[in-house]
Amino acid sequence: MKGGVLLTGASGGFGILFARRLEAQGYRLLLHGRDQARLQMTLNALKKPDQHSLLLGELSARKDVEALIERVQGEDDLVGIVNNAGFGVWGGFEQCENVPQLDVLRVDLMAPVMLTHALLPRLKRCHGFVINVSSLAGETPLPYMSTYGAAKAGLTFWSEAMRAELQGKVRVVTLAPGPSPTGFRAISGAPKGKGGLFSTSPDVVVDASLSVLARGGGYCVPGWRHRALWCLQKIVPRVMALPMMARYLKP
Ligand SMILES: NC(=O)c1ccc[n+]([C@@H]2O[C@H](COP(=O)([O-])OP(=O)(O)OC[C@H]3O[C@@H](n4cnc5c(N)ncnc54)[C@H](OP(=O)(O)O)[C@@H]3O)[C@@H](O)[C@H]2O)c1
Repeated sequence: MKGGVLLTGASGGFGILFARRLEAQGYRLLLHGRDQARLQMTLNALKKPDQHSLLLGELSARKDVEALIERVQGEDDLVGIVNNAGFGVWGGFEQCENVPQLDVLRVDLMAPVMLTHALLPRLKRCHGFVINVSSLAGETPLPYMSTYGAAKAGLTFWSEAMRAELQGKVRVVTLAPGPSPTGFRAISGAPKGKGGLFSTSPDVVVDASLSVLARGGGYCVPGWRHRALWCLQKIVPRVMALPMMARYLKP
């Protein structure tokens, strides 16, 4: 066994694939999510379910994040964290309820920062790793999913700055996928046909991030479609892109 890895969002699309790939690479998994039955399905899909553990908690609740930290601190062989849990809320900023929008910031940004900060001394001792599952939504403002874009922009900037600080000590991957067919869109409330352009399969997304990890970490935009989208984000000036996106994404 190569050691333990905390994987948040283990009951969802990318999470299930991360669990399978990391188990195949010889890691012991601490699978985190909110729903025991859904987490159990991830566990059942693994080859050696007895070697892994399930951890339940709500990442928008500070006390649950603190309890998770305390629980994971007790795992002597921890070598990695995959900050994968996340969700977005689709709709105009004014129309969406305040609490879910704040929860987006708590789950997608604050929880990864809290978990990583607390567990970093452990990861440094073993030249471990952190994979932060951000998004291309963090590269440019995202009308009608504004708090999600803000959370992922924060996650990307924090993750990339941390990667530079920890070079040679902890391997950091900042994963920035575009749209991919998981439960994410339905949960966000995105209407069919909006924002699903340039879709890339979850397998390609997860495999690309693990290849970047094997090369020592880095910023990872998976698949040629997402790289094309990323190039577009870089070359089209915001003054043109933003009104176009607002027109295209308007509910
Ligand atoms: N799919 C895409 O198009 C896409 C593109 C770019 C980035 N991403 C990012 O990829 C990551 C994984 O998402 P996915 O596409 O695999 O979506 P998903 O199938 O909806 O999975 C999301 C996972 O996050 C967990 N989660 C959500 N809210 C939580 C909370 N409050 N507390 C604890 N866990 C929570 C879910 O657990 P439950 O089972 O308890 O709900 C689930 O395991 C997210 O960070 C997302 O932002 C997705």
